[in-house]
Amino acid sequence: MAQKIAILNRKGGVGKTTTAINLAAGLARQGKRVLLIDLDDQCNSTAALGYDFSQGTTIYEALIDRDLANASLQIYPYTDNFDFVAASQDLEGIETAMHDHFGADQKLKLLVMGIEFDYDAIIYDCPPNAGLMSRSSLIAADYVLIPHDCGQFSECGIPKAVSLCREAMMLNRDLKVLGFLRTKYKNTTLCHEAKDTLNESYPEYRVLNTTIKECAALGKTFKDHQTIFSYKGAGDPSQGRVDYTSLAKEVIEICEF
Ligand SMILES: Nc1ncnc2c1ncn2[C@@H]1O[C@H](COP(=O)(O)OP(=O)(O)O)[C@@H](O)[C@H]1O
Ligand SMILES: [Mg+2]
Repeated sequence: MAQKIAILNRKGGVGKTTTAINLAAGLARQGKRVLLIDLDDQCNSTAALGYDFSQGTTIYEALIDRDLANASLQIYPYTDNFDFVAASQDLEGIETAMHDHFGADQKLKLLVMGIEFDYDAIIYDCPPNAGLMSRSSLIAADYVLIPHDCGQFSECGIPKAVSLCREAMMLNRDLKVLGFLRTKYKNTTLCHEAKDTLNESYPEYRVLNTTIKECAALGKTFKDHQTIFSYKGAGDPSQGRVDYTSLAKEVIEICEF
C-alpha cells in the first residue's frame, strides 16, 4: 500500500510543485511506483508533466461526481513508474461545487483508496491556501512534507501550515509531519540559520538533512515538460539531480517503504 505524502505550505513559490515533481521522479528512479496528484487550481504540475488540457478528465470531475460507488480517478502515465492525476482550473470553484456534498473533505481519501495498492508512493501537490483541496490532502495523507524557502521566517507560511496539520491530525490519526525541507538553499545567513530557527520553533518535528540548493535548471524544467533528471536544456542540472536523489532516499528511509 502506498505511503501518501502531502507537499504543503500556505505560501506560494516555496518549491512545492518543484518538489512534488522531482521527488516523484527521484522515487521512481529508486524503483518505486509513484502517483502524483495535482490539487492546485494553478495546475502547475499538470502543465509541467505535459497534460493536454483540451481532452481527458481531471481530479475535479472525480471529486464532484456524487456517485461515490463509481467515481474514479483518471490516471495518466508520465514515465516509467511515474503516473499523475491532472488538476483543472475548475478547482478554484470546488468549495462552491461541493458545498452540499456529505463529507466533501473525505472524498479524495475515498478515491485514493481505490488505487493505493497500485503504488508505493502517492504525492499530493497542494495549493498555497487552507481550502478544501489542502484539507482533503491532509485527510488522505500519511505524511506531510513542508518546504521552506529559507526566506524570512515571519513570512514563510509555516506556522499556518503547521496549525492546519495539527487540526487535521484530530481527524486523521495516521497523519505525521515527515519534516521541513529547506529549498532554494544558498550561501546566506538566513539559509544557514534556517535549521536552528525551525528546530527552535518546532522541536517536535524533523528538519530533513537534505537541502535543495538553488539551481537555475530547476527553474527551467517545467516548460520543457521535464523533470530535473531528464532535463537537457540550458543550465547545469547536476546539483538538482543530486539533491532530489538525496531527498528521495531520505524519504524512503523515514517512511520505510
Ligand atoms: N531549488 C530551486 N532553485 C531555483 N529555482 C527554484 C528552486 N525551486 C523552485 N524554483 C523555482 O521557484 C518558482 C516557484 O517554485 P514552485 O515549485 O512552483 O513553488 P510552489 O509550488 O510552492 O508555488 C518556480 O519558478 C521554480 O522553478
Ligand atoms: Mg505549486
